Parts: sequence; structure tokens; C-alpha cells
Amino acid sequence: MKLAVFSTKNWVRQSFVEKKPKHIEVTFLESRLTEETAALAKEFDGVCVFVNDHVTAGVIDILAKGKVKIIALRCAGFNNVDLKQAKKQGIMVVRVPAYSPFAVAEHALGLIMTLNRKYHRAYNRIREGNFSLDGLLGFDIHGKTLGVIGTGKIGQIFINIMSGFGCRILAYDKYPSQAVKDKGVEYVELEELYRQSDIISLHCPLNHDTYHIINEYAIKSMKKGVMIINSSRGPLINTAAVIEGLKSGVIGYLGLDVYEEEDGLFFEDLSDQVIQDDTFVRLQTFPNVLITSHQAFFTKEAVGNIRDTTYENIKEFISKGTCKNQVLTTGTGRT
Ligand code: NAI
Repeated sequence: MKLAVFSTKNWVRQSFVEKKPKHIEVTFLESRLTEETAALAKEFDGVCVFVNDHVTAGVIDILAKGKVKIIALRCAGFNNVDLKQAKKQGIMVVRVPAYSPFAVAEHALGLIMTLNRKYHRAYNRIREGNFSLDGLLGFDIHGKTLGVIGTGKIGQIFINIMSGFGCRILAYDKYPSQAVKDKGVEYVELEELYRQSDIISLHCPLNHDTYHIINEYAIKSMKKGVMIINSSRGPLINTAAVIEGLKSGVIGYLGLDVYEEEDGLFFEDLSDQVIQDDTFVRLQTFPNVLITSHQAFFTKEAVGNIRDTTYENIKEFISKGTCKNQVLTTGTGRT
């Protein structure tokens, strides 16, 4: 099995080399997989891709002209893959369903705490000898209402963490879970969640139903000063609408680990370049916006799990022609 690993960064290379199975030959490519780069996979049996690779119908057609029989995602979300086209071309799509739900849930809390208590500002101030508390006023999370959209693996761990603060927790999910109800969480309609929540955290996948779930209308229903956290997928949020929400003060805090136009920005060192995305630059001008570069998953444990599950997926495909982590076109968005 010859595998082309697209979007390779140092951490990917180090991890995948460390425990490489003998019968998988791995070639690391720094390029993202796009229609322009897909031809690089011509001589390979499989491609391994990440969140910002564009596995469109066009890309899949190019892969199918070569020998590619498997697309191995190094992530849980599969919104960037045209599953119907992959099925049509007889290419199996596999993924890593859960590499560290703890990492993502804990990062969501990190965004909340930093936005609320302004650790980033305090850190810089103290280093400059400024010990003033002006501008650092936060709020108690205890007693606040938290709205969780998507109560799957990450959402449930996030609920467990936040329960420790003594929050009232509301949730919305297309498929409510009894286990979540048993924790004392109340499922409500989205509009109700928007109306009542002080903090809203997104943990649903990106699909047709959830694209721009946070839009102008949703924001109009929210409490003034609400905190919105997105550690799921960028396009869940209409960025233009949240910018208006921030300007009007309806949105009091915004924490993003993902951004709808993150391709080509996130994971790259652009410190010597002029950022061309004016919307992103505008977002950075708000003092109450905190952005991280899709790092919520990035823990030692998660990186190890990504590698191990990816290799296991490929080994299962080689030996049985099937894979328990295959992504099916008939999926409900539930995993
Ligand atoms: P999961 O599949 O366990 O849970 C997703 C939940 O969303 C399910 O309960 C499902 O019923 C629900 N859902 C589906 N459609 C919905 C809709 N229309 N409205 C509301 N809820 C809906 O997935 P998991 O592992 O909890 O991951 C959630 C998301 O987190 C992933 O889809 C991925 O986009 C994102 N993620 C982000 C990472 C990061 O580094 N920032 C890393 C890993 C995942």
C-alpha cells in the first residue's frame, strides 16, 4: 500500500514516521489536496487528508483515474469530502471518529475562560510591569445558562466539564440523547436556547442543516452580551452576521477555533505576509474576540490516536476490504 499524506506538517510527519507499519509505504506531501495537486497521487493506492483538504467531485475523479482506492481522513468531520462521488468512483472514505473529544471540549473551556477573565491581556500586562486590573473584569460562570448545540461525544464531555461550574445547561440536538437528559440537561428548541443562554457553544457537525446556523436571525434572538464559542467547523457561523452582532453589542464575546475561510490561513506561518482576508482582519480588531488556529484537537493523546486509527483503518481495508470507520453516504450526521 502506497499512501500519499497531503497537508503534511512537522507534527504529522514525526508522528506517522514513529509508528509506521512495515507494509504501508508513506510519502509526505506539504501541499493541500485540491484539483491542482490531485495528480500528485497518481501512483498511490491511497491518500490521507486533513480538515482543509478539498476532496471535491473533481478531485475524486482525478484520484480515480489513478490507483487510489481509499481516502483516509485524519479527522472526525467529513464535510470536505464529496461522499457521493467517492461512492460512485468506488473509493472508500474512512475517518478517525474520535481522537480526543476531551481535547476539544477542554479547549472550548479555555476559550471561555480566556475571553471571560482575559488571561491573554493579564499575561502581557504583567510582563510590562502593569499590575492594574482596569479592563479585566469578568463574570462568574456559576449560575449562568449555557446552551450546547450538538450533544455527541465532544458536546457531552463539554457538558460534564461545565456542570462542575454550577451552570444551568440547555441543549439542542437533532437527535436528543437520554444519557444527556439523565445529567439534568434540558433539550429545547434552538430559538429558546438562543433566548436564554449566556454562553452558546457549538459542537454539531457541519452539514446542510447546520451551515450558518449562527446567522443574522439567530443573533437577533440572543441575549445581549452573549458569548459564542465555535470549536466545531467554521461555516457553522456566518462571519458577516457575527461582525454586525459584535458591533451592535448583542455578541459580547466570540471565541473561535475555526473560521469559515480558514483554508490557506490556519496551520500556516503568514507572519511575514499581508493577510488578504479583510473579514478575518476585521474580526481581529475586536477586543472581545479570541481566535485560535484550529488547535482544539492538538494534544499528544489526540495526535497519537489520529495516527494509530488512520493506520488501523488502512490495515483493515487492506486485509478485509472493509473498515469499521468507513463514512457512508447515508449518514445522519450522527456517529
Ligand atoms: P458526534 O458525531 O459525536 O456529535 C455530533 C452531534 O451533533 C450528534 O449528537 C448529532 O446528533 C448532532 N447533530 C447532527 N446534526 C445536527 C443538527 N442539524 N443540529 C444539531 N445537532 C446535530 O461528533 P463529535 O465527535 O462530538 O464532534 C463534533 C464536531 O466537532 C465534529 O463534527 C467536528 O466538526 C468538530 N471537531 C473539531 C475539532 C477541532 O480541532 N476544532 C476536532 C474534532 C472535531
